Amino acid sequence: MKKATKNKKMWSGRFKTPTNRLVETFTASLSFDRRLLAHDITGSIAWARALAHAKVLTKNEADKITDGLKAVQKAIEDGRAVFSDQDEDIHMAVERLLTETIGELGGKLHTGRSRNDQVALDLRLYLRDEIKQIIEAVKALQSALVVKAKSHIDVVLPGYTHLQKAQPIRYAHYLLAYYEMLERDRLRFLDGLQRVNVMPLGSGALAGTNYPINREELAKALGFPSVTQNSLDAVGDRDGAIEFLAAAGILMMHLSRFCEELVLWSTEEFGFIELPDAFCTGSSLMPQKKNPDVPELIRAKTGRVYGHLMALLTVMKGLPLAYNKDLQEDKEAVFDGVETVKTSLSVLTELVKGITIRREAAARAAGNGFLLATEVADYLVGKGLPFRQAHEVVGRVVRYCLDQDKDLTQIALKELQKFSNRFQKDVLGHLNLEASLERKQSTGATARNRIRERIRQIEGK
Ligand code: ARG
Repeated sequence: MKKATKNKKMWSGRFKTPTNRLVETFTASLSFDRRLLAHDITGSIAWARALAHAKVLTKNEADKITDGLKAVQKAIEDGRAVFSDQDEDIHMAVERLLTETIGELGGKLHTGRSRNDQVALDLRLYLRDEIKQIIEAVKALQSALVVKAKSHIDVVLPGYTHLQKAQPIRYAHYLLAYYEMLERDRLRFLDGLQRVNVMPLGSGALAGTNYPINREELAKALGFPSVTQNSLDAVGDRDGAIEFLAAAGILMMHLSRFCEELVLWSTEEFGFIELPDAFCTGSSLMPQKKNPDVPELIRAKTGRVYGHLMALLTVMKGLPLAYNKDLQEDKEAVFDGVETVKTSLSVLTELVKGITIRREAAARAAGNGFLLATEVADYLVGKGLPFRQAHEVVGRVVRYCLDQDKDLTQIALKELQKFSNRFQKDVLGHLNLEASLERKQSTGATARNRIRERIRQIEGK
C-alpha cells in the first residue's frame, strides 16, 4: 500500500483503478527517451527561470529547482537514481526524482507547462545538437575524399554507364563526385536545422499557457533564434524529425552507392582498389577470403533509415491536431536514424583514408575496351564529318576490331582508312588516354586543371 501511494501516478486523481501492468509497459517510453535526459534538464531549468521571471516562482524557488534538477541529472547519469515502473517517460521520471530530492517545491516546476510542449522542445534540442554533429561528420568524410583526390590526380580509371565501360576518367574526378553529393547532403541538413531551431516551449498542452511567460526571452536563454507561432502546430508537428530523416535517407543512399562501388572494385574481377585490412573481415571457413563487411553493412543500413522515414510519415498521416500518443513513436526512429548515420559516416571516413588504388590495374582497364571510341568519332568531326556519320563509322570500326579480336589501340592506320579516308596519322594522338582526359575541359569535367580548380574552390571555402 505504502509503495502504491509513493509510486502514485501524477495523473491518478481522476482514476478509480490503477493502470493495468500491460498498459504501463506498453505505453512507457522511458527505456528509449531517457536519451533525452540532458535536454530535458536544460529545458526544465530554462522553464523554472521563465516562471521566476513571470513571478510564478520566487527567484529562490527557481534556484532550488535548478540545483535539484542538476542533482537529479547527475544521479541518473551516475546510475544512482532508480527508475520506477510508474515513470512513464523521462519527463515524469525527472519530476518524481526532483520532488524526492527537494520536496514539494518540485511539484511547482510543471506549472503552465505540458509534457506536450516539453517533449517538443526536448526533441528539437536533441535534433539540433545531433544535426550539427552530423554536419561535422559529413565534412570529415568530404575532406578525406578531397585529400585522396588531391594526391591521386594522375590516376586513371574506366568510367561506367550501365556498368559498361564508357570513357576514361580520373580517380580524383570520381572521388569528387561523392564530395559534391555530400555537399548537397550537408546543405540539406543545414537547411532543415533552421526549421528545427525554433522554440516550442510555452505552447502548453495545445492552447498556450496561462502564465505571463516571455517566450522570446525563453528562446534566447535556450539559444533559439525564434519561437513557434502557433501552439497547436508546435505540439502537434514532427516535420523537423521527418525532414531530418529524409536528409539522412538521401545521405545514406549516397553512401550506399559509394559502398557498392567499393565492394565491386575491391573484387579480384575489377581489382581497382585494395581496402585496408583493418576494415575487412575474414571467413570462418575459406582462408583466402577478405570480405568488405563495412561497405556492405552501410549499404544495408541505408534501408533502415528509409524505413524510419516511412514509419514516421505513416505515424503522422491522418493524425488530428494536436498531440496524440502516436507522436511518441517518433523517438526510436529518430534516435536510430541518428546513430546509423553517425556510425556509418565515421567508419566510412576512416576506411576511405585507408583505400589503396591499384593504379596499373585501373589504367589497364581504362586503356582497353574501346573507351576511346568517342575520341575517334570526335576526331572525324574535327575533319569535317557530321557527328552522326562519325558515330556510324567508328561503330563499324569497333565491330571490325571485335571480329578481329583486336583493341582499338591495336588497329593500324591503313585499316582505319578502309572505313573513312578522313583518317590520317594524327588520329593516333586521339587514341591516347591522357589526351582524351585532357580534352574534357568543360566546367566540372575530368581534365586535370578542371579538377585542380575545383579542389582550389573547395579548399578556399
Ligand atoms: N512520452 C511522451 C511522448 O514522447 C511525452 C508526451 C506525453 N504527453 C501526453 N499527453 N501523454 O510523446
